[in-house]
Amino acid sequence: KITPVILCGGSGTRLWPLSRQSFPKQFVPLIGQRNLLQLTLERLGWCQQPVICVASEEHRFLVQDALRTEKAPGQVLLEPAARNTAAAMALAALLSKSNADQDALLLFCPADHHIPDIAAFEATVKRGVPAAEAGAIVTFGVTPSFPSSAYGYIQQGDQREDGSRSVERFIEKPAPADAQKLLLQGNVLWNAGIFLARGSTLLAALAQHAPDILKVCQEAMAAPASEQVGEAGGPVRFVRPDGAIFPGCRSQSIDYAVMEPHDNVAVVPFDGQWSDVGSWNAVAELSTADGAGNRIAGPGHAVQAHNTYIHSTGRTVVALGTSDLLIIETPDAVLVAQKDHAEQVKDVVAYLTQRN
Ligand code: GDD
Ligand code: MG
Repeated sequence: KITPVILCGGSGTRLWPLSRQSFPKQFVPLIGQRNLLQLTLERLGWCQQPVICVASEEHRFLVQDALRTEKAPGQVLLEPAARNTAAAMALAALLSKSNADQDALLLFCPADHHIPDIAAFEATVKRGVPAAEAGAIVTFGVTPSFPSSAYGYIQQGDQREDGSRSVERFIEKPAPADAQKLLLQGNVLWNAGIFLARGSTLLAALAQHAPDILKVCQEAMAAPASEQVGEAGGPVRFVRPDGAIFPGCRSQSIDYAVMEPHDNVAVVPFDGQWSDVGSWNAVAELSTADGAGNRIAGPGHAVQAHNTYIHSTGRTVVALGTSDLLIIETPDAVLVAQKDHAEQVKDVVAYLTQRN
């Protein structure tokens, strides 16, 4: 039995102006009319277990909508403040522990990734089950394609008897030069950001490496407020950790808090298509290109243009004679960027925030 846990509390800024603090990437309709959270729920359907979503209180209706449209029953942990993934995962493990099925395997998934091949995803996760049942934290590794500093790196060790491989070392977001060295060394994978472990395994690892985070989460979950709403696909229960206690939690990602220092980590490689949709270039890749490499989402036309991406939410956008451009139209802001500057969009947000 695998209980899916979806982490949907992040606030992406690299897809500005479509994603905003109040409307992060996982809620932006990017593929057809569906958003990445909906697609994540669909991808986890084979688990056939009620899902646990961990999200910000601010986004409760967006999460509820996704659960409704995907007909997914489950529980939504609403955080009064974002305290990063170590705390979010601790809350989910504590909630799962308090549910009837005491020590289920938990599959922690980001809400904002694109993994189109559901069958390949399911098969890969299942390959990790024996290691997780034996007490390891199982990560899933993707073959790296360039020395990115945005990912965790997994240095693979020996083959384990359970079919996975042990993890020699986990290196979260190395500096570019170190990432380069890791790639040259070979035998490394990118951490896909998906983890499979027993709830008790994760809690024990937190007790060992980040006892302060675990303690605050335990206190905040001692008597959480709970509210049930009926939804088409089954009941949805909102669970609120104590709003006076949880904000006092240290903010750290699970990667630094647990994955780097922990000993019993295993990895299963994932060969399917995987994207963390981290930039407008990655979003562009989700739609099909015409003969000149132009991609259009929404009302738009690329005329005598080349390698231009248009994303319009309403107005008709025409790109004439352009090349290597990203054009993102929304009601109150328009972004025009050179494709090789896609990574710097987050700097624009910082710049605008500073000026306001
Ligand atoms: N509920 C909740 N609360 N969710 C959160 C919070 C929080 O405070 N912070 C982040 N999340 C969610 C995000 O929405 C996302 O789905 C997931 O947790 C991972 O957080 P990111 O902030 O996107 O992490 P990252 O992309 O920098 O790094 C992680 O993912 C990479 C792969 O995309 C790491 O695990 C890396 O090692 C990994 O390579
Ligand atoms: Mg991410």
